[in-house]
Amino acid sequence: MKVSLNNPDLFIEKAFINGTWVSADNNATFEVRNPSDNSIIGNVPDMRADETKRAITAAEKAFHSWKKQSAEHRSKLLRKWFDLMIENLDDLGKILTLEQGKPLEEAKGEVLYGASFVEWFAEEAKRIYGDVIPGNTANSRIVVLKQPVGVVGAITPWNFPNAMITRKVGPALAAGCTVVLKPPGLTPYSALALAKLAEMAGFPPGVFNIITTAKSSVVGAELTSSKIVKKISFTGSTEIGKLLIKQCADTVKKVSMELGGNAPFIIFNDADVDKAVEGAIVSKYRNAGQTCVCTNRILVQSGIKDEFLKHYVKAVEKLKVGDGMEENVEIGPLIDQGAIDKVEDLVKDALDNGANLMIGGNKYKADSLYYQPTVICDVTSQMNIADEEIFGPVSTIFEFETEEEAIQIANDTPFGLASYFYGNNMSQIWRVAEALEYGMVGINTGKISTTVAPFGGIKESGTGREGSKYGIDEYVEIKYLNFEI
Ligand code: SIN
Repeated sequence: MKVSLNNPDLFIEKAFINGTWVSADNNATFEVRNPSDNSIIGNVPDMRADETKRAITAAEKAFHSWKKQSAEHRSKLLRKWFDLMIENLDDLGKILTLEQGKPLEEAKGEVLYGASFVEWFAEEAKRIYGDVIPGNTANSRIVVLKQPVGVVGAITPWNFPNAMITRKVGPALAAGCTVVLKPPGLTPYSALALAKLAEMAGFPPGVFNIITTAKSSVVGAELTSSKIVKKISFTGSTEIGKLLIKQCADTVKKVSMELGGNAPFIIFNDADVDKAVEGAIVSKYRNAGQTCVCTNRILVQSGIKDEFLKHYVKAVEKLKVGDGMEENVEIGPLIDQGAIDKVEDLVKDALDNGANLMIGGNKYKADSLYYQPTVICDVTSQMNIADEEIFGPVSTIFEFETEEEAIQIANDTPFGLASYFYGNNMSQIWRVAEALEYGMVGINTGKISTTVAPFGGIKESGTGREGSKYGIDEYVEIKYLNFEI
């Protein structure tokens, strides 16, 4: 590894099962590369079904005692884990940039975001309240309990190698569940560093296990088919989410799915242009456009379109592209060649079908994974780029005339994760907020992600909520006790 760490022990090339750092049974490994220059960062164990089964068994054994610990004890260990994340912020940020590519400051921001879920659920662990219900007869009393679901299989994405782990593992451990995590093959090192810190925090063996693999489908099939695993929490594409839901059907598992999006960003004539530009830049170009809440379609009302475009293109022009370790860089590389190919195909299709290029439109450097921050206008719903999640630094500008038209275009997608709009008329704000078929709506803001709000989508963007007071519900079962006195 090229980057030096204050604590080199956080760079680990083993998986973590039952409190032990282990290789694959056959010692197989796979390479992990830096998307910035394609250099090899290192090699991690390439595990399959047998190691996954062992991790599940370890998690089951640990569950019997972990669920019996006091909420206060679980809370203290989570708090310790949070403290260690903060103490090691610089190292966790560097590891993240190295394997994922996002600029170092943004990576550290993600680590803080990730740590905030651990802190939040350390607190929530103590507040998993039940209920007392007046009985249905004079002599009956009903009490509702919330109990941990059991062993959780967590499958996390490469675009947030740190925060998507803690957003699942934090509430799971707080509720008294144990976890087998499969991080993405592209970014396993952040997960392994988090497991090291969890070990240092004192979580007992088997409570948190990590299986690294280059063959996600094999590990995924083991987690979803296991009778021991009671819950699957997944963040990733809608295509894989649908497959996992099908695989979970045979054992009727509880599932949380945080899947793809196609976020509209609507700007009405009375919007504050400077604020709309700022919000759109934040929401579109975060992580080089590789988040599932990134703006995918900018819908501008005709009366404000020219002014918005003039300022927006200037702002995009200023974005600094480069290696995430360099100072002031705002846009890093895309994750792999497939991501570049997809962006190139979508841009070409749009331009071939009548869209106009305002800026960018090409790779940033030949033979690299960098793509120029791009804006294309005169985009219509008939183009592929209107339907697909771009996952790259490309803004598409649509024009509309009326509020009804904007809502119709915005909702014309199977996805329903994030949406945004800018305007100043209070009646319109309420109407549009209620009409948008999305789980999250940013109103005069491009930043919606926070620990304290219930992150999640509707329609084909998934089911379940992460973070906030609702996040823990995904990891508990409700049981009621009906007493006759
Ligand atoms: C994601 O892209 O999966 C999550 C983004 C966020 O939490 O803001």
